[in-house]
Amino acid sequence: IKKMTINSIKKAKGVQPLVMITAYDALFAKLLEPSSDMILVGDSLNMSFAGKNDTLSATLEQMIYHTNAVCQGAKNSFVICDMPFGTDINSEEALKNSIRIFQETSADAVKIEGGEDKAHIIKHLCSNGIAVCGHIGLLPQAVRSEGGYKVKGKSEEEKAKLVKDAKAVERAGAFCMVIEGVKAEVAAEVAKSVAIPVIGIGAGKDVDGQVLVFSDMLGFFEEFTPKFVKKYMDGALLVKNAVKNYSDEVKSREFPQEIHTY
Ligand code: KIV
Ligand code: NA
Repeated sequence: IKKMTINSIKKAKGVQPLVMITAYDALFAKLLEPSSDMILVGDSLNMSFAGKNDTLSATLEQMIYHTNAVCQGAKNSFVICDMPFGTDINSEEALKNSIRIFQETSADAVKIEGGEDKAHIIKHLCSNGIAVCGHIGLLPQAVRSEGGYKVKGKSEEEKAKLVKDAKAVERAGAFCMVIEGVKAEVAAEVAKSVAIPVIGIGAGKDVDGQVLVFSDMLGFFEEFTPKFVKKYMDGALLVKNAVKNYSDEVKSREFPQEIHTY
């Protein structure tokens, strides 16, 4: 497979929906690579990998560690690393931290949560050689300041704000953006209002691509399934059954057999 670039990603708009999926390690990155256009090292790893309740305590060091693992496993993938909470609070901090990501990993781009309010930061990064993916709509890093995860685009004001955010992110130089937790009709309108791809999660089908957290779509995460997730596999059941078999066979001395023995 040919590795995507910001140019081929931009050109895909209106031609073919883009496939984005998260990965946090080399093992899964390698398995996901053949069927995805972009791999996102999301700060959702703080929940899926580290077991925390939200993404806010993910650190730059953790993001760099996981991004290196993903790049190692998926050498032909366009890899995006999330800027974790607090690392993009102003232009200088954001540039310093995104330069660390670019120098200490082979990530192709960083992702920043926020719309019009973050446009000046996106612009500063883009003019200094950092490729930026935007992220508008429901912003998981705002979960505490908003008192929960709130679907956006429910009022005319919110709809107008989303279109303004998308246009500001595009004008700032982002090559694509994620739109999360937005009413489908509104996300469709946002996607139509910009020339760069708008990748949806919980934003309906009329956008330029989809992103899912791999551990959600493979069914490894059992606690709850958000409405927007489709489970393509029951990973939790498969793993638990397999480990139960192993356990039973160890106890009954059925494993190891002759073929597993030196
Ligand atoms: O952290 C993440 O996985 C994300 C996606 C849900 C878009 O930001
Ligand atoms: Na994220």
